[in-house]
Amino acid sequence: MSTDSTSQGIESTLHENRVFQPPKAGEVGASRWLVESFAEYKSMYDQSIADPESFWATAAEELHWFKKWDGVLEWNAPDAKWFGGGTTNVCYNCVDRQVESGHGDDVAIIWEGEPVDGSGAPVDVRRITYKELQTEVSKLANVLKSKGIGKGDVVTIYMGMVPELAVAMLACARIGAPHSVIFGGFSAQAITDRVQDASSKMIITCDGSWRRGKVVPLKDNVDEAISIMKDSGNQPVEHVLCYGRCHNDIKWGELDRCWNEEMEKASADCPCEQLDSEDMLFLLYTSGSTGKPKGIVHTNGGYMVYTYLTSKYTFNLIPDEKQVYWCTADCGWITGHSYIVYGILPNRVPTVMYEGGPDYPSGARFWQMVDRHKVTQFYTAPTAIRAFMKWGDEHPASCKLDSLQVLGTVGEPINPEAWMWYRNHIGRGVCPIVDTYWQTETGGHVITPLPGATPTTPGSCTHPAFGIDAAVVNTDGEEQPANTGGLMVIRKPWPGMLRGVHGDRQRFIDTYWSTVKINGQPVYTAGDGARRDEHGNFWIMGRIDDVINVSGHRMGTMEVESALVSHESVVEAAVVGMPHEIKGTGIAAFVTPAPGFEASDELIAALREHVGNEIGAIAKPDMIRFTAALPKTRSGKIMRRLLRSIAAGEHEITQDITTLEDFSVVAKLAEKDES
Ligand code: WTA
Repeated sequence: MSTDSTSQGIESTLHENRVFQPPKAGEVGASRWLVESFAEYKSMYDQSIADPESFWATAAEELHWFKKWDGVLEWNAPDAKWFGGGTTNVCYNCVDRQVESGHGDDVAIIWEGEPVDGSGAPVDVRRITYKELQTEVSKLANVLKSKGIGKGDVVTIYMGMVPELAVAMLACARIGAPHSVIFGGFSAQAITDRVQDASSKMIITCDGSWRRGKVVPLKDNVDEAISIMKDSGNQPVEHVLCYGRCHNDIKWGELDRCWNEEMEKASADCPCEQLDSEDMLFLLYTSGSTGKPKGIVHTNGGYMVYTYLTSKYTFNLIPDEKQVYWCTADCGWITGHSYIVYGILPNRVPTVMYEGGPDYPSGARFWQMVDRHKVTQFYTAPTAIRAFMKWGDEHPASCKLDSLQVLGTVGEPINPEAWMWYRNHIGRGVCPIVDTYWQTETGGHVITPLPGATPTTPGSCTHPAFGIDAAVVNTDGEEQPANTGGLMVIRKPWPGMLRGVHGDRQRFIDTYWSTVKINGQPVYTAGDGARRDEHGNFWIMGRIDDVINVSGHRMGTMEVESALVSHESVVEAAVVGMPHEIKGTGIAAFVTPAPGFEASDELIAALREHVGNEIGAIAKPDMIRFTAALPKTRSGKIMRRLLRSIAAGEHEITQDITTLEDFSVVAKLAEKDES
């Protein structure tokens, strides 16, 4: 495992050898564990691999189908059809099914807005029942229909973390209009790229959203995107629907419609469309090694069953047990799709949504929220845990945190120190931690402990989820011996798997299905390096392509390079990951300035700003260094490994980062190693 410093490294090794047995349910206040022992997990897992069709049929039967499937799986690698011939509706399973079974007055969503009053208490708290959710979703679905949106029309959603974001996603699902949610931190240019790629006819947005006491001007960014699209001659958007959240000053243009007014007029009667299992549920753009972000395609039936079942077992969700589940992700990422909305609502456990910053008004906000809402399952990212550690133990210590039963992490490898801190300071030293490994493409968890069953070791995501035939192999597809690194692959299809890359079949095949073949058949390659230890635990070693995980968010180094070279002052740029105390991986950029431009602090600031405008604040380089030329091998390849070690401080050349550096000397030494 990679760690940030040598002293941490020694401590890591100690923690990495520790095994924590799962606690008895009563020890953490749970009534029972759905899976109670490792032997029980193993027998269910073995059955799911030996006979996946009957395993997944049983899971699918727990949900509602208008028409039952003809066959569970049709597999022509790399194309899978799950529950083919079946018709269902994901929104029905999230919302209507709960109302119809007599639970309409149960709470579906608990929401807190960011602003607080003088005493530090939140100003906006809403508890939305399934019945209320059904009304809101149906009305919005009718609004969408009245604007000409129907089955197959892509709706872009660019909102803050307000309940209306979940309402928008569910309304799209209700009528079979695939949504494409864009994280609110992305820029106008990023919106443009995604809207154009999806030929999206509608954008749903908010006037603004609260983040650390300030309004993020979401509608202004949409306006700018529309104007960029107009100028480019490719502007597919017919309507912009804007929800009033912050009541900041916004301009109303000819495409704009007011959510609040439209909803007042809309009827609350809108039956769910009966959709084919393999109709598209959503598109979600994510970064890859090359080019612009790609639209990952997920479909109704398989994704629904997969996120439902993994939510249930990974978090031990049981209705009517006074559980409250909180995932701190944003719905702009896959984690928010699968584990705030689509996997949780069908399990009939209230899901918490929070609008703002984790340290607003203080570093105790999350822990106060856990106490206020009696959160039982809490799911966050290692980068957040490292930030909490830095903000000080006094924040969690000021809260009770005694409702918590299960803790989860996602998004990047968790360093063992953060794991131990999480367990001791948040989990009272008893709560099991589920370190869930998965991807936008996998739809849901693929490697994860089960809280009552799996012995855990800090830093390992442990064992495969049900139905996941995961392995660590070499490029010939041969399984690696214990503790030997290799490629993370999944050898059998699973219901939550991506069905394609929107509009780019070749990229789908090249990226996921071309690296490894077993018996002549392509197998899914995740793009991560991994190893298995002698107990069969998986350890994720990080990306093996040009993708980096910055604060658990995926970023393509090439995207950042393209943004940099689009600035007039840059001739060439190379971007690599570097160790970062909080973010896990930070962004380091090496830049060759154009003639007439001098390396300076002002230029660094201008370039950071420029990347922020091209992609979003999360893509701003943490370090920019100027060089007369980038170090290259004789065949002309940029020496990325050398740049990574320079960025990590292993090759210090000059202390003054604003003067032009010369990497040619170290490049000569490193050449043999690189090529
Ligand atoms: C990384 C996020 C180690 C991994 C759900 C993967 C992890 C990428 C873990 C996907 C974990 C995610 N341990 N690494 N528990 N979870 N990753 O698509 O590199 O935003 O390929 O999905 O995050 O990121 P994505």
